[in-house]
Amino acid sequence: MSPSTSISRFVALLVQLLPLAPAVSASLDIVPGATWTAAGTNKHIQAHGTGLFETDGVYYIIGENHTAGASFQSINCYSSTNLLDWTFENELLTLQSSGDLGPSRIVERPKVIYNDNTKQYVMWMHIDDSSYAEARAGVATSASVCGDYTYLNASQPLGFQSRDLGLFKDTDGTGYLLTEDRENGLRIDRLSADYLTVESNVHLFTADYEAPAVYKTGDTYFMFASQLTGWSANDNKYTTATNLSGPWSDWADFAPAGSDTYDSQTSFVADINGLVMYMGDRWVSTDLAASTYIWLPLTISGTTASLTTSSPWTPSVADGTWTPVSATTTYGSKSNGTLSGSAVSLSCSGCSAEIVGYLGGPDNGTLTFSEVAFSSAGENTVQISYGNGDSTQRYCAVSVNGVTHVVAFLPSGGPQSLSTSVLNAVVNEGANNVISFGAFEGGYCPDIAGIVIS
Ligand SMILES: *[C@@H]1O[C@H](CO)[C@@H](O)[C@H](O)[C@H]1NC(C)=O
Ligand SMILES: *[C@@H]1O[C@H](CO)[C@@H](O)[C@H](O)[C@H]1NC(C)=O
Ligand SMILES: *[C@@H]1O[C@H](CO)[C@@H](O)[C@H](O)[C@H]1NC(C)=O
Ligand SMILES: *[C@@H]1O[C@H](CO)[C@@H](O)[C@H](O)[C@H]1NC(C)=O
Ligand SMILES: *[C@@H]1O[C@H](CO)[C@@H](O)[C@H](O)[C@H]1NC(C)=O
Repeated sequence: MSPSTSISRFVALLVQLLPLAPAVSASLDIVPGATWTAAGTNKHIQAHGTGLFETDGVYYIIGENHTAGASFQSINCYSSTNLLDWTFENELLTLQSSGDLGPSRIVERPKVIYNDNTKQYVMWMHIDDSSYAEARAGVATSASVCGDYTYLNASQPLGFQSRDLGLFKDTDGTGYLLTEDRENGLRIDRLSADYLTVESNVHLFTADYEAPAVYKTGDTYFMFASQLTGWSANDNKYTTATNLSGPWSDWADFAPAGSDTYDSQTSFVADINGLVMYMGDRWVSTDLAASTYIWLPLTISGTTASLTTSSPWTPSVADGTWTPVSATTTYGSKSNGTLSGSAVSLSCSGCSAEIVGYLGGPDNGTLTFSEVAFSSAGENTVQISYGNGDSTQRYCAVSVNGVTHVVAFLPSGGPQSLSTSVLNAVVNEGANNVISFGAFEGGYCPDIAGIVIS
């Protein structure tokens, strides 16, 4: 028996004797409603009313920039390969001195589909004046999904009002505009072969629905939409058909009744290698920039669609599956952190009695968690529980084992009203991880109540 054989037999014996450790992998999670910092801007993602577009394994979200309120600032595009780490790529349409994309204009719900014949990416969007009196649909094109778009024109499709809109490219390549006509209802209109004009009406839902999104699986079309309650959320509904012309089933809830679709409004329904993902907006009408993203796994079974949880979850892009985030460990700032500089522990009525303030700033208050445990090495999500009583975002330099990340923190409604911001960072297996919060460009961090590790 050679030494190596005896070693391998010994290892084989050990494997038989030792209980098998479960195969753990790093947990990279979608945290609905959290501040989501984009690389390239270091700010909360500004892609509201978004649509998702995949090409060559890269995901793009394209949506509204609401940094300075409701009126048009830009249409932003961000990219990701895992749906979790988003990098700002480009402003696809930018503010012009006048015209449809000028100051004080409304440009909402941009959606993009690719035209196989013209090899153009075609964007449709809601175009309006600040009082929403024009109710038109605009169209723009680009040679690349995230490139500069050329704005063509806007019109009332087939002579009807067009407010919230969506796009759907059927499996046969036909393009459809989904458009809300306040006087008559929600329309499905067929686009021309080049997708640049509206040709004919396919269906009219006479009930009051907006924020439309179509998803198709097999021969079944699902139409998702919200009721008309302005920026306030409501119980969004869905209906199904095997032909876009109908007949369509009765509208039904897809989230628990009374949850107001987990306090969100439909923006898009994406298919990620078979993982169906609901993408909604949780609008903050008083500060649209602080609106967050409610992305949830949508269960489709036959002709039923359902959302069953709004808790953090872990998508697996490669195989189109997901798992709920189950076990988490909380490290409280006061009980598990070390303070230095100006950092002080403050009483906090709104949290479980501990929060650390005066972090960052000119005297660089710091908060350090020096023994944070992770079950495996790799990129992992860290949820940061914070309070930010300002009316604008705060930022913090968060060092994870010496690598610094800039993390944004949206206004939370008060210094002791807690929200969550998400950091994805590479960590080590075991309890030797050091996570510390300090000043970014001399500014104050928010007050931090603790971190949650999944
Ligand atoms: C969004 O709009 C603001 C102005 O309101 C501008 O400063 C910013 O550059 C725009 N683009 C992005 C990517 O946020
Ligand atoms: C918008 O521009 C496209 C492309 O030039 C054109 O086909 C279409 O007729 C125009 N629509 C309107 C309403 O002007
Ligand atoms: C869908 O319905 C329309 C209108 O009734 C009909 O013309 C069309 O052939 C149908 N499409 C299919 C694929 O059955
Ligand atoms: C945090 O500190 C408390 C009090 O010392 C301790 O009981 C708890 O185990 C610590 N939590 C972690 C996750 O280490
Ligand atoms: C703040 O202090 C931390 C910890 O000592 C240090 O890593 C960081 O560089 C400091 N930042 C500034 C802006 O002084």
